[in-house]
Amino acid sequence: MDVYPSLTDVVGNTPLVRFNRVTGAAPAPVYGKLEYVNPGGSVKDRIALSMVEGAEAAGLLRPGGTVVEGTSGNTGVGLAMVAAQRGYRCVFAIPDKSSAEKIAVLRAYGAEVVVCPGDVPREHPAHVHSVAARLAVEIPGAWLADQYDNPANPRAHYRGTGPEIWRQTDGRITHLVAGIGTGGTITGTGEYLKEASGGRVTVVGADPEASVYSGGDGGPYHVESIGHFRHPETVEDTWPRSYHPEVVDRFERISDRDSLLTARRLAREEGLLVGGSAGTAVAAALRVAAALTPEDLVVVLLPDSGRNYLSKVFDDGWLGQLGLLEEEVPG
Ligand SMILES: Cc1ncc(COP(=O)(O)O)c(C=O)c1O
Repeated sequence: MDVYPSLTDVVGNTPLVRFNRVTGAAPAPVYGKLEYVNPGGSVKDRIALSMVEGAEAAGLLRPGGTVVEGTSGNTGVGLAMVAAQRGYRCVFAIPDKSSAEKIAVLRAYGAEVVVCPGDVPREHPAHVHSVAARLAVEIPGAWLADQYDNPANPRAHYRGTGPEIWRQTDGRITHLVAGIGTGGTITGTGEYLKEASGGRVTVVGADPEASVYSGGDGGPYHVESIGHFRHPETVEDTWPRSYHPEVVDRFERISDRDSLLTARRLAREEGLLVGGSAGTAVAAALRVAAALTPEDLVVVLLPDSGRNYLSKVFDDGWLGQLGLLEEEVPG
């Protein structure tokens, strides 16, 4: 029989697919790593599995225990999926700017969701991270997954995503392009690919223009789950330990307009329904590819599906309210 022993055995080994239309006249080929093909629908299935297995091995998560996390959605889905399989309870703190679809999906997996205000500084007791930390202390048998600081996050990509891309491209990848939220993806994948290639692979961070990671002022932007936003009242701005900034060779800074319209183009021109952060990454990858040669090979990470954002990225009304729709030329 050609079967898998359990759902978690299906995580990873996602396809790498060449873009054929959005690339236009770019000399270098661009391949997208389709992370939405994971069983929970995003790249975060990888780290959910890796963090739960790490916690079980360390004795931090025991039978009947509770998984707690502050998550804008995808990590919650991955954790809820793994927890459902293994009989853990799940409680998530989630910012109110997350899409309604993401919150509904978490509840569908049986997770409990605490919606927190997104407009408070990190030090505030109502901030997602403060609430998650408090729940983890208050609930007996709880374990805080802590994707921002958990080494099992970048490790999942060092052991999985990186080797997969190296193998799938037969060692021919020259440029990796990815967005940075917790930084786990770019750190683990980038570190592996640099080691495997003897330093030949260039790692490009695709960052929202306002994000602090690439030198922005930390002001608000509309692409979810990537970049680093700094609330004006934040006193001490800490970056996730899952992100190793030295792995990034350079940044491409992408506007909301380019991110969101690129995500829409991917659906219409490539048949790839992906989220706004994939739009940011692909907009960056197309810029990178335009300045390369046919001997180069660009791989870009597509973290999740556009189905998470039907009421945002793919809704003309939402885009129109932001003033981002008028420049879209049909066809
Ligand atoms: C949709 C989406 N894109 C990109 C990212 C960023 O990935 P990472 O946290 O590994 O940097 C995340 C994670 O938060 C995500 O959910």
